[in-house]
Amino acid sequence: MTPEQFIEFARVLPEPLLLVSGEGQLLATNQPVADILGLRRQELPGRMLFELVTESTNDIVKYLQACSSSRAMVIGSLTLRKNDGQTLICRSQGAVIQPWSPESSALILLRLENRTLATNNFVLLNEKIDELAKEVQRRKQAEEALWKANQELEIRVEERTTALQETLNELQLTQTQLIQAEKMSSLGQMVAGIAHEINNPVSFIHGNLHHAHQYTQDLLRLVQIYQQVSPNPPPKIQEQIEEIDLDFLIEDITKLFQSMKVGTERIQEIVKSLRNFSRLDEAELKQVNIHEGIDSTLMILEHRLQAKHEYPEIKVIKQYSQLPNVTCYPGQLNQVFMNILANAIDALEAAANNGQWPAVNSQTTDNQNLTKNNPQIQIKTEVIDENWIAVSIADNGLGINEEVRSKLFDPFFTTKVVGKGTGLGLYISYQTIVEKHNGQLSCFSVPGKGAEFVIKIPVISGS
Ligand SMILES: Nc1ncnc2c1ncn2[C@@H]1O[C@H](COP(=O)(O)OP(=O)(O)O)[C@@H](O)[C@H]1O
Ligand SMILES: [Mg+2]
Repeated sequence: MTPEQFIEFARVLPEPLLLVSGEGQLLATNQPVADILGLRRQELPGRMLFELVTESTNDIVKYLQACSSSRAMVIGSLTLRKNDGQTLICRSQGAVIQPWSPESSALILLRLENRTLATNNFVLLNEKIDELAKEVQRRKQAEEALWKANQELEIRVEERTTALQETLNELQLTQTQLIQAEKMSSLGQMVAGIAHEINNPVSFIHGNLHHAHQYTQDLLRLVQIYQQVSPNPPPKIQEQIEEIDLDFLIEDITKLFQSMKVGTERIQEIVKSLRNFSRLDEAELKQVNIHEGIDSTLMILEHRLQAKHEYPEIKVIKQYSQLPNVTCYPGQLNQVFMNILANAIDALEAAANNGQWPAVNSQTTDNQNLTKNNPQIQIKTEVIDENWIAVSIADNGLGINEEVRSKLFDPFFTTKVVGKGTGLGLYISYQTIVEKHNGQLSCFSVPGKGAEFVIKIPVISGS
């Protein structure tokens, strides 16, 4: 390319272009170069490049050599001396367009680029990148915050769910307890009501029995007097005497009255037990005889202790000590005796189902053996010290293994089939003894041998 051709070609281009020789002499430039330098274009050809820049001649020569010996574009930096004395840093891209030859010097095309503009752009770009980075950072932080919030929310939801579940469980428990308490209270009222209703007629039967016995004795004495006065009665009377078997009647009627008396007395006993058991004074602390409470509970459970087709009789062995009266809620305490005794009976029935006590079913004459091997419940009471008493209820059923024992007093824990067990008996008993009476309830068991429940209560409890 000749300088003329170059000018022809560079004239139309907006970027500053220079054509220099390998030695650094300006051969031609376009108008943008003149504009940057603040010179007229015609003044430029023939000048040396290092006159127009601040870099040393040495640096310029080195750069131009690099340009002429490289096939690729060589990037450099030139600080132009402007006509007005100011300098301008430019980025320069140099490319050889005609290599050096012995005949002619190399021709190098330099394309200048205003560095401040680029720098500005660069600054802008940097700012953009910075902003972007910040935005990315912000988004990351937002995302993290969101993730955290989400996590916290999940934890909170979980906590709330657990709390709700607990509340629900408590409510269910309270509801069941209320139902149970309501059932017990209406059962108590019913029992007390029935006991009262039965008590009146039984009382007058019992009271009149005495008179009825007296009247029949009087009548019999009258008959005897008749017999003495008239030892040979007419045949019609003689026939009647034989028909009613008078001698037997006289002998039997006293026995009859005796057994009727025993019967009404027993009914009165039962009524007393029912009243005692159902004590409607539950809300009040009372001084009571604990043995009466146990006995009336046993009376109510009597039908379950008797031998039945599939179960042998359950022997109750009482070992009562001399106990002081205990200040307690008697109705509630009886309920505890009931729960523990009913569990013992259940355990003995389960053991019988399991084939325990075969000796009881076969006709054995060995009484000792029978006693040892029959189903039994031992009830022991004792004074621990002047402030405490203990009641122990032990059975020789199947006993309780460690796993069951650890959950015994939990609400709704039962090993019994649906309908038979509610799992509330021991839970309520525990609450009654420990919370209402400031006492202790514990269980001891040797699996396979039986279980023992020990109730310890202060003589003056509930205070
Ligand atoms: N005397 C006992 N012998 C063996 N297991 C017993 C005895 N008493 C209680 N248990 C065990 O304790 C569990 C809980 O008793 P309880 O709270 O009265 O509930 P439930 O009798 O309704 O099952 C019973 O299901 C049973 O497994
Ligand atoms: Mg029970």
